[in-house]
Amino acid sequence: MNELQFDRHRRLRGSDSLRSMVRETWLRPEDFIYPLFVVEGENIHREVPSMPGVYHVSLDGVMNEINECQSLGIKSVILFGVPKEKDAVGSQAYAEEGIVQQATRLIKKEAPDMVVVADTCLCQYTDHGHCGVIEGGKVLNDPTLDLLAKTAVSQAKAGADIIAPSNMMDGFVAAIRYGLDEAGFHDVPIMSYAVKYSSSFYGPFRDAAHSSPQFGDRKTYQMDPANRLEALREADSDVNEGADFLIVKPALSYLDIMREVKDRHALPVVAYNVSGEYSMIKAAAANGWINEQEVILEKLTSMKRAGADLIITYHAKEASRWLKDQ
Ligand code: PBG
Repeated sequence: MNELQFDRHRRLRGSDSLRSMVRETWLRPEDFIYPLFVVEGENIHREVPSMPGVYHVSLDGVMNEINECQSLGIKSVILFGVPKEKDAVGSQAYAEEGIVQQATRLIKKEAPDMVVVADTCLCQYTDHGHCGVIEGGKVLNDPTLDLLAKTAVSQAKAGADIIAPSNMMDGFVAAIRYGLDEAGFHDVPIMSYAVKYSSSFYGPFRDAAHSSPQFGDRKTYQMDPANRLEALREADSDVNEGADFLIVKPALSYLDIMREVKDRHALPVVAYNVSGEYSMIKAAAANGWINEQEVILEKLTSMKRAGADLIITYHAKEASRWLKDQ
């Protein structure tokens, strides 16, 4: 009568086979979107110092990357341009011969099945490094919207399959949707960086994209890491304005937000596993402090468990390789 009563959870953990039968979350190469940094110039294949394994490639090297991704089962890449010329209004972001436009045309011609996502922002293209037009030391919202819509339309014209605006101006989804529709691109979806925090985890990316702000910071447009309700408001606005996917960025410190966004909206949610999250693991692994493969697969799994349908990640190629070998 005095028998101890408790549940035996270990029953379902007894063997590899049993564990895989009851596993709730799986990773697949189709989950990943691989970020590619395309630079102007020739024969460039230069490793980003703060991001071992990530390269700047010139147009002549782009198809190598794409073919490698395809052979690993990766369906999509997101393009970041690193232009030679920068100016106050980021003209190279919407130039017909801009580096992203050229890379997009090339990929869609040589590998039409590869889904090309174009990051739509101005910070890599402006000489001040901010994501919008500056006046009196301030980033102006509404004048920036016109340039973003122009950028999105030029990317769609080049063949981009998905437009991914990342600059956090208010109304950017509405302005881009309007611009795309007006230009006849009703069928091009918007993958909005709906929830983007002002994060120090972007440090290595800014080295890679040469996009650090030359004065001030991005706190007047990117979100305060302390806020949760603000993230829900941001996501609601983007859904109302016509977003087709919602990105939460960064990923690891914001898994709670990812889950809430997923539960609140019936849209695909995308985790952006950012540069700092990548570099920390690479640094620890280089020192032999962690099991690199296990840590990476664990963290990617945690993003899917938190509600992400897709993951933008610099680990895409290596993770796909490991998944194949398993
Ligand atoms: C551009 C942009 C940034 C990232 C993606 N798009 C940087 C920023 O806001 O400064 C960061 C990506 C990363 O850290 O991997 N607005």
